[in-house]
Amino acid sequence: MACIAGDKLTKDRIREKGFFSKLVTESILPLADYLGNKEGYSPDKMNISINTKKGEVLDVPTLTDSPLTFEPELAESICIGDGDVFLCKIRNVLAEQGLLDKEKGLEDRLRQIAPVKTTCSTYFSWSGKELGPWGEPRKDYIM
Ligand SMILES: Cc1cc2nc3c(=O)[nH]c(=O)nc-3n(C[C@H](O)[C@H](O)[C@H](O)COP(=O)(O)O)c2cc1C
Repeated sequence: MACIAGDKLTKDRIREKGFFSKLVTESILPLADYLGNKEGYSPDKMNISINTKKGEVLDVPTLTDSPLTFEPELAESICIGDGDVFLCKIRNVLAEQGLLDKEKGLEDRLRQIAPVKTTCSTYFSWSGKELGPWGEPRKDYIM
């Protein structure tokens, strides 16, 4: 599920194409923080070095350096005021090689993915370590 407020490029693209890609992990946090804080309507947003590849199932750009990426496809949207709730079906999951090792326990694999959680405009690691406020990890991307 994605809840997107106001007008933004991400929302235009989801409406137009019906899909997107997603998951913030520690390895891509600086890039994700940049993409999440810089407005897509600004023409210079993508004037950065960024490695992407096409999804395996959907024609959607995904971040190459993420250990795990979802390819969600829009199933239904609910409009609430200026916000939209997009309910999606995950059509595919891209995972780096080491995550396919079924001998490895789920706990180890989650540690390898290192998903980032967020609350109170602050990022946290999977184990709960504070990783800084929104807008800080992107500092290498601000020109
Ligand atoms: C950690 C983080 C989480 C965010 N989550 C949401 C969200 O759930 N919904 C939303 O509307 N905007 C969210 N934002 C803000 C958007 O990322 C921001 O509006 C951004 O400009 C969207 O990109 P775009 O302008 O290219 O569409 C989030 C930003 C950050 C940094």
